[in-house]
Amino acid sequence: MTDTAAEPDVVDVLSSDHQEFLQLIEEIKLSGEAEARRDLADTLISELVRHAVAEEMYVYPAMRKHLPDGDEAIKHDTAEHKELEQTMKKLEAADAADAEFLAIIGELETTLRDHVRDEESDQFPQLRTRIPREELVEMAGKVETAKQLAPTRPHPLAPNNQVFHKLVGPGVGLVDRLRDKLTGRSA
Ligand SMILES: [Fe+2]
Ligand SMILES: [Fe+2]
Repeated sequence: MTDTAAEPDVVDVLSSDHQEFLQLIEEIKLSGEAEARRDLADTLISELVRHAVAEEMYVYPAMRKHLPDGDEAIKHDTAEHKELEQTMKKLEAADAADAEFLAIIGELETTLRDHVRDEESDQFPQLRTRIPREELVEMAGKVETAKQLAPTRPHPLAPNNQVFHKLVGPGVGLVDRLRDKLTGRSA
């Protein structure tokens, strides 16, 4: 297909991920049941880790190449990804029935909103200004492919979660297991 006008570019893909994360957080905060909170949090962790890895693999090189302050922006984003990862690790170990669980969700939301604001108001518009649209559409495809290297944890309302449970499994170590799958550090 030569006409790319209707196809999503990498900014569309990553921005819609951001919306999904914030929506999951709202669902977690509104959920009255510990089990549902746990399921939603595992879905959030699984989506957020793949988003971060895909950005690192395909967006950072483009930022480094095309943005005047690319190195600086990558440094800031890397620090934020680390912070998100630390918070997700607290979340994987936390009991969804404890008040602490929602406090960790709040912490995650704060870092995430900062991440979203920086990318959507600063880096993403710069990418769109400086990189030809065809290339941004191609990057969208690469990001989607990279994200599929680990099994998705379907939304809790989806019919079954067996693939996710078999291949990565929830609980302590989930963040690392997902990252390993996505970066090919383990089979
Ligand atoms: Fe992002
Ligand atoms: Fe990021």
